[in-house]
Amino acid sequence: MLTSIKTNEFAGSESKKLAMMYFRVAIILFGAQLLMGLIAAIQFLAPNFLFEVFDFSVARMVHINALVVWMLYAMIGSVYYLLPDEAGVETVGIGLGKLAFWVLTAAVAVVVLVYIFIQVGPGKESTIWLINEGREYIEAPRWADIGIVVVVLIFYWNVFATYMKGQKTGILTVLVADLLALAGLYLAGMFFTDNISMDQYWWWWVIHLWVEATWEVFVGALAAYGLVKIINAKREIVEMWLWIEVLMLFGSGILGLGHHYFWIGTPEYWWEIGALFSALEPVPLVAMFVHVLYDWGKEQGIAKAEGKPGSVMKNGPAMAWIVTNAFGNFLGAGIWGFFHTLPQVNIYTHGTQFTAAHGHLAFFGAYATILIGMMYLGVQGAYGIERMKATFKSKMAIFLITFGVIGMTIALTIAGYEQVLVERAELGAGWNAFFVAQDLPWYVQAQIWRTIMGVVTFVGFIYLVWDLLTIGKKEAKAAA
Ligand code: HEM
Ligand code: HEM
Ligand SMILES: [Fe+2]
Repeated sequence: MLTSIKTNEFAGSESKKLAMMYFRVAIILFGAQLLMGLIAAIQFLAPNFLFEVFDFSVARMVHINALVVWMLYAMIGSVYYLLPDEAGVETVGIGLGKLAFWVLTAAVAVVVLVYIFIQVGPGKESTIWLINEGREYIEAPRWADIGIVVVVLIFYWNVFATYMKGQKTGILTVLVADLLALAGLYLAGMFFTDNISMDQYWWWWVIHLWVEATWEVFVGALAAYGLVKIINAKREIVEMWLWIEVLMLFGSGILGLGHHYFWIGTPEYWWEIGALFSALEPVPLVAMFVHVLYDWGKEQGIAKAEGKPGSVMKNGPAMAWIVTNAFGNFLGAGIWGFFHTLPQVNIYTHGTQFTAAHGHLAFFGAYATILIGMMYLGVQGAYGIERMKATFKSKMAIFLITFGVIGMTIALTIAGYEQVLVERAELGAGWNAFFVAQDLPWYVQAQIWRTIMGVVTFVGFIYLVWDLLTIGKKEAKAAA
């Protein structure tokens, strides 16, 4: 029988300290991401803003690369955080893990500086090696790619060795297998071919099989761990769901990849394959959504029947973010993804602001939310607090950030709708049509609202940082 997780057993462990180092860099990069988004949003409205000083192409690139990198940091942090709890032993090789952290962080700092200061000039073979690989979301130059592989190998070794040494829970088994797939997929984005269709074909393996398969399984494992830890959910139940999700996500996610192959010059059979399997992708997302809420209700019901007061919520803000994750994943990936996944629809929506609407809500709902929840668990562990309640700042943070992102999503959906009707349906999708559609009032007003909602999101972010920096001290004092 597996031992249940004791809240404070590994509080203050080296693995958890390393987790906090990763979380700190993650939150800084998250802030940078939002600032870049605001600059890019303003440039939609005032194209001369910072023109040739800090171009839209650069702001947008840093925005989405920072997004991917902060999430990877928070994911590594989350693993280091839960590893000793799940395995029942301290993480193996923590000294090496810390070294890898500093190497990675130094490399990220250099890459960001190069992104910001050196992006204009002739494209040569050396450009791929030193400046930019030119692959959306994972633009890091090749030297950094190789460095990332080395750092990830160290990380994976630590996780795997700890797994072999300690107890093998279902959550951990899924994580260890999933991380291997997640890391392995990065390799598909590292080589170069002259044929642009082929290049895109492989590039999608990274970004799609990350967000629609391996990352989804990863956050499924985090949600399972979080529920056990925060509300004492029954391990058997959450783990059973986790295994079902693994099965379904890999089933639909791998062939669902076809929805990115409609218009890039790959064979036409992808239309049918992509349509069918990507349309099935929301099924596991719905199951995940039901799972979190069902488990919680069931636990409360069992407690009530036994005459107990119901499970104590051990971390209010983390739980709030996990519940937001269930809704957000369902809406952003499931609903907004399904909207445009059939080729009959996608021929009109492809590459419009509709895509950006989906991209924002999905990345936020499925990943940002639960990773922020893990940061709250991190703070709880760092201060060794038994029970952490939401503060006013926690509530402002979750409300403003969620409201802001939903607001941006609605605005972008309206902009996309206008593009579909005017640019695609009416004017036939030419170059000129693109610019005509961008000047009409529905589009411009939507872009104004997106910018306003972006500011709301940013204010929420300030509350979030403020809360993460203060909630631990406050709660520790209250407990004493
Ligand atoms: C959490 C999971 C998901 C995330 C984070 C996500 C994110 C994204 C992002 C960022 C893009 C834009 C890519 C680009 O810049 O070219 C995109 C495209 C797309 N996504 Fe998702 N997605 C997720 C799940 C889904 C699901 C489940 C579906 C289908 C049911 C879906 C359908 C699509 C389609 C059809 C496109 C292509 C849009 C176009 O043609 O312009 N996505 N997704
Ligand atoms: C301050 C708030 C934000 C603002 C103002 C903002 C603004 C922008 C802008 C202007 C773009 C370029 C869109 C284009 O090329 O048409 C963009 C792209 C993107 N942003 Fe944001 N953003 C914000 C927050 C976020 C958040 C919180 C996330 C996810 C967690 C996110 C994820 C993305 C993604 C995935 C893309 C690429 C979408 C695509 O190519 O379809 N952004 N954002
Ligand atoms: Fe996809």
